[in-house]
Amino acid sequence: MTHGSSRRHVARSISQSLFIYKEGAPLWSATSKEPSIPALDKNISADICIVGAGIAGMTTAYLLAREGRSVIVLDKTQIGSGETGHTTAHISNVIDAGYCEIEVFHGAKGARLVAQSHTAAIAQIESIVAKEKIDCDFERLAGYLFFPDEDSQNKLQEEWKAAKRAGLQVRKLKQSPFDFKFGPCLRFSQQAQFHPLKYLTGLARAIKRLDGRVFAGTEVKEIKGGKTVKIGTKGHSIVSASAVVVATNTPINDWGKIYTKQEPYRTYVIGALVPVGTIPKALYWDSEDPFHYVRLQRIRAHGKAQDLLIIGGEDHKTGQAEGIEGRFARLATWGRKHFPGIKEVAFRWSGQVMESMDDVAFIGRNPKDDPNVYIVTGDSGAGITHGTIAGMLLRDLIVGRDNPWVTLYDPARKTPAATDTFARENRKVAGEYAHWLTPGEVSTVEEIKPGMGAVIHRGSSTFAVSRDDEGSLHACSAVCSHLGCIVSWNSTEHTWDCPCHGSRFTPDGKLLNGPALGPLEKVPSKSAK
Ligand SMILES: Cc1cc2nc3c(=O)[nH]c(=O)nc-3n(C[C@H](O)[C@H](O)[C@H](O)COP(=O)(O)OP(=O)(O)OC[C@H]3O[C@@H](n4cnc5c(N)ncnc54)[C@H](O)[C@@H]3O)c2cc1C
Ligand code: FES
Repeated sequence: MTHGSSRRHVARSISQSLFIYKEGAPLWSATSKEPSIPALDKNISADICIVGAGIAGMTTAYLLAREGRSVIVLDKTQIGSGETGHTTAHISNVIDAGYCEIEVFHGAKGARLVAQSHTAAIAQIESIVAKEKIDCDFERLAGYLFFPDEDSQNKLQEEWKAAKRAGLQVRKLKQSPFDFKFGPCLRFSQQAQFHPLKYLTGLARAIKRLDGRVFAGTEVKEIKGGKTVKIGTKGHSIVSASAVVVATNTPINDWGKIYTKQEPYRTYVIGALVPVGTIPKALYWDSEDPFHYVRLQRIRAHGKAQDLLIIGGEDHKTGQAEGIEGRFARLATWGRKHFPGIKEVAFRWSGQVMESMDDVAFIGRNPKDDPNVYIVTGDSGAGITHGTIAGMLLRDLIVGRDNPWVTLYDPARKTPAATDTFARENRKVAGEYAHWLTPGEVSTVEEIKPGMGAVIHRGSSTFAVSRDDEGSLHACSAVCSHLGCIVSWNSTEHTWDCPCHGSRFTPDGKLLNGPALGPLEKVPSKSAK
């Protein structure tokens, strides 16, 4: 969720206004009730403490609670307030990068394990929904991967063969089975979709029934390993546990420098109303670069059932793109070209995905840390399944059960086909953005209009200056608190984003996403004048 937006506020606006979105707020928060979850205000202990209440943390907590382990989940904001609240929730075993690339990085055996684990994750979600009777619009459906132009027909053929080798149920179709302007495609069976926040609310209820405890508004500031792990919060409470799982999307305890093995991307989504029943329910993807991802969600708006076509795409590396406004417009243009009957664009939002160097997540023991400290990160755009795989894999590691996916997802792994190129590229990018000679975007603060932000130079200092809607200026150092790159303004979400490893900050410098651990240094706004 974009910082500061309230789920209740958005839910009210959906019934009042024809134009139903609150800028930047995802569909999911507008169509679900925010659960009431307390903050932690004393020292407590449990078998396992999980930091982060997104799909990874909540699934891990739930599956461990089912093993009879006592669990505590801590989230600095609210369950689902991170990327799980911003997702489009395609639940799929069709990996974004494709199985040809997966084979290059992980070999034929690795590709089969990737397919097997994502397929198992879909089944795991389905079985949790049934067992816990979670009303979250879960349904199985087909997925269509389109290769529209002539040049991509070889690619379709190769992808089809690789997906079959990996063990997926896939068919080649000469033409889309629907009357859309798409060409040949691959059809994958047994995919799924759901409402992610309703699912997490159901998991929270189940965790509570299993005597687990979930705390919102509880920011973790310190994790000290050892026989008993001590997890310190901003409010000075301490959780003691035999193991900790850091499921903060980007780990807040990154001693193994995982940030050098993954790259953050911003990705954009619109939700457009279409006449009910005119577009068949399915998952749709194309093979453009960056690709588009599409699904439907039935909602009630203006007093009646409506279909919302959710179109995502326009990805770019965090902090490294111009023209964010144009991205939503381009998504709408693309949607109108391919799908009939698109009417009002009712939602637009964006979020962050962590693309790992070899297309699969990092799940397991935290490198260079105590053996009872675990992490999950590197979702690679498939975080709903990767988060669920994390739940199953970390449960097995913690209870001491064998799991065939341990090596594939090991955060300390080396993937020779990916590592060198990736590390070189990462160093080059950081080098380009780390210098302090980045040109100032404006020369005076007067040029910064309400709702805008810009980097500005004063002597040897570089400031990140923004003006809020009321006209007040906020100034902080533009030097990222992680490793010193210069942040840039994200005009859609009104955040400062770091181009090097994707840390993000509020207009007044508070930390939103790691790997940075602290805020941008605050400076008096008069220093920037
Ligand atoms: C626009 C978009 C579309 C996507 N579409 C898909 C899709 O269709 N299918 C798919 O599989 N994946 C998709 N993804 C990816 C997927 O949604 C995410 O990878 C996944 O939801 C991440 O889950 P998580 O639990 O790892 O992290 P999050 O959901 O981000 O949870 C991390 C939690 O940690 C908390 N936290 C952070 N720091 C602290 C701290 N210091 N103390 C306490 N708590 C802390 C945060 O508040 C947050 O709630 C999409 C992502 C985006 C942004
Ligand atoms: S320097 Fe690493 S995130 Fe900013």
